[in-house]
Amino acid sequence: MKKYFVIGNPIDHSFSPKLHNYWLKQNNINAIYDKIRLEKNEVESFIKDIKEQKINGCNVTVPFKKAVIPFLDKLSLEANKTQSVNTIVYDDGNLIGHNTDISGFEQAIKRLNFQMKDKKILILGAGGVVPSIIFALKKMNVLKIILSNRTKAKAENLKSQFNDLEIIDWGDRVAFDVVINATSLGLKNETINLDFSKIGNKKLFYDIIYNPNETNFLKEGKKLGNYTENGKLMFIFQALEAFKLWHRIEPKINNDIFGILNND
Ligand code: ATR
Repeated sequence: MKKYFVIGNPIDHSFSPKLHNYWLKQNNINAIYDKIRLEKNEVESFIKDIKEQKINGCNVTVPFKKAVIPFLDKLSLEANKTQSVNTIVYDDGNLIGHNTDISGFEQAIKRLNFQMKDKKILILGAGGVVPSIIFALKKMNVLKIILSNRTKAKAENLKSQFNDLEIIDWGDRVAFDVVINATSLGLKNETINLDFSKIGNKKLFYDIIYNPNETNFLKEGKKLGNYTENGKLMFIFQALEAFKLWHRIEPKINNDIFGILNND
């Protein structure tokens, strides 16, 4: 039986096993998908096990999306540009690092029917998933990407990869059409201490978080008359792309899946 994992730290919250195991069963694939919490010094030997095919492949989540790169043989174009790997595929003796977060975000936005072209985007946060979001937004031809992170140096660092970013101080107000919460604020019901009351309405408030279903950030956006969307579809599509890479089958997105991922 083939074995797949998602590695990260922490990892308890991950819904990847539920989703992948559902699709494995649906497609009669003799494989199992599990989650495993690793310490940083355990990552190398875990990846060696994939090279030796004791493990068949893995997903990678925070905080290892960059840390896995030195142990891989090749990167896809997207993984290379973002220096972020969320899927490792074994291919004829080589380990290939892919980034399916980008296409996950793109496909989720496409389903929304919200035109991103020529829009001003404010991203909150500068953690692991942000390079992928910036990459996807640039493909959508947005007008401008503004980044705000509590630790400004981390936002500034992203300018070496994406030199036309505008960086503002955490707490500073700016006009935008779309605001994306890519911080971890909301996972434990926190509120974000930013004032959105003067930005007008009919903007898009997008949260990468999907558990809980509606963070305080989304609740506030909705209350102020804006469109809101959580990260559930992005999560589903990044998983779907990983599944396709490993098994060469496109799994179905159906209502069961939304049930599986409902945890409120
Ligand atoms: P990592 O930073 O290790 O990649 P992450 O979960 O991908 O982890 O990112 C967490 C994001 O949430 C970061 O942008 C973090 O800001 P810092 O870079 O300043 O740490 C942000 N974040 C977490 N707690 C926050 C808080 N209380 N206020 C504002 N931003 C916060």
